[in-house]
Amino acid sequence: MTQRLKREELPLAADMLRRGMLVAFPTETVFGIGADATNELAVQRIFVAKGRPSDNPLIVHLADVSQLDHVARDIPDLAHKLFERFSPGPLTIVLQKQSKVAPTVTAGLDTVAVRIPSHPIALELLRLAKVPIAAPSANRSGRPSGTTWQAVLEDLDGRIDAIVCEPGCDVGLESTVVDVSDGELIILRMGSISIADFRLAGFHARHADSASTNHAAESETNSTFDRSLLRRSPGTVHPHYRPSAKVVIVDSEWNGTPIGGRIAYGGLVPIEGMQPTMIRFFQSVNEYAAAFYEFLRECDRAGIDVIYCQSVEETELGTALMDRMRRAAGQSVPSLREG
Ligand code: TXA
Ligand code: MG
Repeated sequence: MTQRLKREELPLAADMLRRGMLVAFPTETVFGIGADATNELAVQRIFVAKGRPSDNPLIVHLADVSQLDHVARDIPDLAHKLFERFSPGPLTIVLQKQSKVAPTVTAGLDTVAVRIPSHPIALELLRLAKVPIAAPSANRSGRPSGTTWQAVLEDLDGRIDAIVCEPGCDVGLESTVVDVSDGELIILRMGSISIADFRLAGFHARHADSASTNHAAESETNSTFDRSLLRRSPGTVHPHYRPSAKVVIVDSEWNGTPIGGRIAYGGLVPIEGMQPTMIRFFQSVNEYAAAFYEFLRECDRAGIDVIYCQSVEETELGTALMDRMRRAAGQSVPSLREG
């Protein structure tokens, strides 16, 4: 049985975490399943609860930068500058790990991914827990991430010890994951902090996987795809964000014939001739991103067979949304297609 906790019960939630239990909590991106990152057994239970492949490392969450030295070492100046500018917030930085981080957290890598979330409940819980908290997105492995507590329970009721049942997840897509180990800012996973945001703040960033930003040019970019970076972010090779329904990406000019039984459509504008069973319009790319995972889950609840999702322009948050949409549609990174 998973205990349902309210905000007032955060001290209890923190106590459970300190005792090696699994507690899901909201962040500004998606819900996470927390465990004490220094407790190997607790961390192993996360992998069991999610059915997560053991080669996919977890992000360690901290209450503030003063805890950084507990989990990471030899922190480059660039990382300090990025934390100063973007934390607390949806930025995750991969750093050299300290030995007290449980080995399973990092899937045996000598690096650890670190993030300071900005959601007040997440921050308060981290402060009360006093230990670094490893937390992957709160969903069964491969499924769309949970952005409401109800969605989290749909996947994990009975598999985790407790959940903080409060709203959050205004961003709706996971944090931007970056690597700075070569003195360069390299994006391993797109998130709400975009290349344009980095540029505005005076940082030059580039994608590890240029194929994910320009799908049309994918066959060309395959040859320049940086495999060493893919190895550095192992999670990106696994299937992700997949509802039971089939996801098909269409643009606003699409004039094909929808296939399948019960169809759904989600996008910014209507598509002429499309008469879906379920329809959802979003006012902006931000709203589309915030509601995307929940939209996929709603379609599954309604027994939809095929979900048509309208593509968006790949600028700012649109880049992260398109990345998730392609993965939901099963169009994955080059290494997956190859085998
Ligand atoms: O917004 C988020 O980041 C959410 C909330 C809960 O904080 N968390 C999240 O965790 O999305 P998860 O486990 O679903 O995704 C973690 C990503 C994976 O792609 C993983 O491979 C990558 O971070 N990662 C973790 N540790 C890494 C490391 N040492 N080196 C490279 N990539 C790493
Ligand atoms: Mg995830």
